[in-house]
Amino acid sequence: MVVTARAWGDLKASEIRPLNGNGRGPAAYDPAFTGNRTEPLHRWVPWIAGYSAKLVNDALEAYNGRTTKSRVLDPFAGVGTTLLEARFHGCDTIGFEINPWAALVSRTKLAAGIELRADDLGRAVDSYRTFVASKPKPERGPPDGFRTRIPFFSPRVERKVLAALDYMASIDNVWVRDAFRMALGSVMVSFSNYTYEPSLGSRPGAGKPLIDNADVDAVLSAKLDQFSADIRVLEKTGSTPDTERKVYNASFLDYASLEHGKVDLAITSPPYLNNYHYVRNTRPQMWWLGLVSDGAAQKDVEERSMGKYWQTVRGGDPIHLTFPHEEIAHTLRRLRAIRTEHGVYGGKGWANYVASYFNDTYRYLTVLNAALRPGGRAIIVVGNSIVQGVPVPVEKYLAEIGEMVGFSHEATNGLRSTRVGGSILNSSVRRGAKPSGGTGLYETAVILRRLV
Ligand SMILES: C[S@@+](CC[C@H](N)C(=O)[O-])C[C@H]1O[C@@H](n2cnc3c(N)ncnc32)[C@H](O)[C@@H]1O
Repeated sequence: MVVTARAWGDLKASEIRPLNGNGRGPAAYDPAFTGNRTEPLHRWVPWIAGYSAKLVNDALEAYNGRTTKSRVLDPFAGVGTTLLEARFHGCDTIGFEINPWAALVSRTKLAAGIELRADDLGRAVDSYRTFVASKPKPERGPPDGFRTRIPFFSPRVERKVLAALDYMASIDNVWVRDAFRMALGSVMVSFSNYTYEPSLGSRPGAGKPLIDNADVDAVLSAKLDQFSADIRVLEKTGSTPDTERKVYNASFLDYASLEHGKVDLAITSPPYLNNYHYVRNTRPQMWWLGLVSDGAAQKDVEERSMGKYWQTVRGGDPIHLTFPHEEIAHTLRRLRAIRTEHGVYGGKGWANYVASYFNDTYRYLTVLNAALRPGGRAIIVVGNSIVQGVPVPVEKYLAEIGEMVGFSHEATNGLRSTRVGGSILNSSVRRGAKPSGGTGLYETAVILRRLV
């Protein structure tokens, strides 16, 4: 199914096709991260807003037509689905990721089988098992400045986590040390008093009991064994071509000095217009793994995130569009007139969020256009949104803004016609239902090509 953005409407099941266009019939095609949970390497760290390796693979097969080694960019790399698949295709890869936890994961996964070797990791896991058998007393305390409403770990669990961190600090091989940190970050919420629902909240708040004790060492070692097993397969199959692999823990929007015109293909999924708060949801990993050391560092990540967050921009003067777009401007006016009595919690605050989202969309598309070689393509996976009851066809505006900054809009492919939404939708839509007579939530891939 290929339609122009202007003709885009609601998706029908029969219109869902794989990106490479070879799909037979109306097969369901799930671009969500769920598919990655069983895939080697991709399964290491779950990421709520990731997309599937299959989707990236299809995009690479459809659009990476070069015979020479090509360079693939993901400006919003998350836990590295694009970068890893591109590496497996023998491409050079560049990723940007503002969140230090996700950046650590992307970088470490990309090193699997190359700098991060199964034998080195296996030896460290064995010696970790010996270390915990000696029942060590932790030498460090919990991270200063990490505050939660209820204790994040029970005292017994906390002691084991702190001892594991002590052990990690003693590992000399930085790749092995980062693999340990990644493993702990991947499993730590499972033995904490918090839970992803999908936002991070306390277990009692989600009707679950507190966790008084857990076999932290067994859970952590099992995760590390999974890493070793996957790396070993990678080393055996020899699929470790010598590719360039760069991951910048930085905002793509600020990266005006990216080598211009050198990227052949970008495959990415920017944050959706659903205010999913990546920073708050990854606070445990950022603080416990020492990736932020104070509140100011955490705030900086929030403020430099694409689209900001409603919490960051809801107050203050009205935020206006920095580029001309009558339809988005109309949506902002409509929003500002809704639930005015609720102040920043009403339409006014949400209008500021929507305006920052599209202002940042304009910025990143400008940087992306400059990064691509003339004729290079960007495959951008986005979901539409419904803000305070007002439908926002993000994919349509994305294509139109793309055309303003020097892209031609080749196509918008439907990927998924039902999607469970985030916090700013009415509750029936949030549960996956379509609002009566209105638009539901769907996901699309917008394909833009840099004009020659
Ligand atoms: C939808 S997720 C991408 C997930 C990715 N496709 C995957 O499979 O892991 C969007 C990502 O963009 C990141 N992000 C937000 N603002 C950014 C910015 N200014 N520069 C770089 N990354 C940013 C978020 O931290 C988040 O990880």
